[in-house]
Amino acid sequence: MPVRLRPVTETDLPALDGAESPYENFGPRAPRSAAHDPSLNADLGGLAVVDDSGALLGNVSWVWQRWGPNAQSRNPMIGIWLTSAARGRGAGTEAQRQLVDLFFLHTAVNRIEAHTDVENLAEQRALEKVGFQREGVIRGAQWREGAYRDGYLYSILRAESGAR
Ligand SMILES: CC(C)(COP(=O)(O)OP(=O)(O)OC[C@H]1O[C@@H](n2cnc3c(N)ncnc32)[C@H](O)[C@@H]1OP(=O)(O)O)[C@@H](O)C(=O)NCCC(=O)NCCS
Repeated sequence: MPVRLRPVTETDLPALDGAESPYENFGPRAPRSAAHDPSLNADLGGLAVVDDSGALLGNVSWVWQRWGPNAQSRNPMIGIWLTSAARGRGAGTEAQRQLVDLFFLHTAVNRIEAHTDVENLAEQRALEKVGFQREGVIRGAQWREGAYRDGYLYSILRAESGAR
């Protein structure tokens, strides 16, 4: 399904509430505290996902992680949420593919991560279709729906992405 990524606007905010998915139920949060900074280097950033007519489908987001003291050891961990009507038509795969391409094209990062619940089969499959590899179980790290949850850590490296 053709999608585009664009900066989030003020009018998008009410729709980007992460509703209708147990995998986005992180408890109360202010709309403006969600990740909507379009700069790829923002510690916490995000972009809107729209279809080819411009209709809002959801959003992608990222938070920068660090694996050591050097700036070169930082990497974004990406996330996504689509409205229930937008799911299951390839938009999640395509939006994450485009986000990965943006990071490899416009930053020098070598690694992009994603983390998803062990029960979230749709996101696991979407990540694998983009080219992410599953690295292992991250135990009890994510607080969601009133409990600590196990998830899988995924990554894709620059050399695996076809990017230079
Ligand atoms: C997870 C999500 C981003 C996936 O995007 P999507 O557009 O629905 O998925 P796609 O249509 O691109 O499908 C990707 C693959 O997953 C499969 N899939 C889709 N829904 C599935 C489900 N409920 N169970 C198992 N597989 C599923 C598809 O069949 C496809 O694989 P295939 O091409 O081999 O058949 C989307 O469903 C969503 O936003 N869900 C709610 C929020 C969420 O879970 N976000 C991720 C939190 S980490």
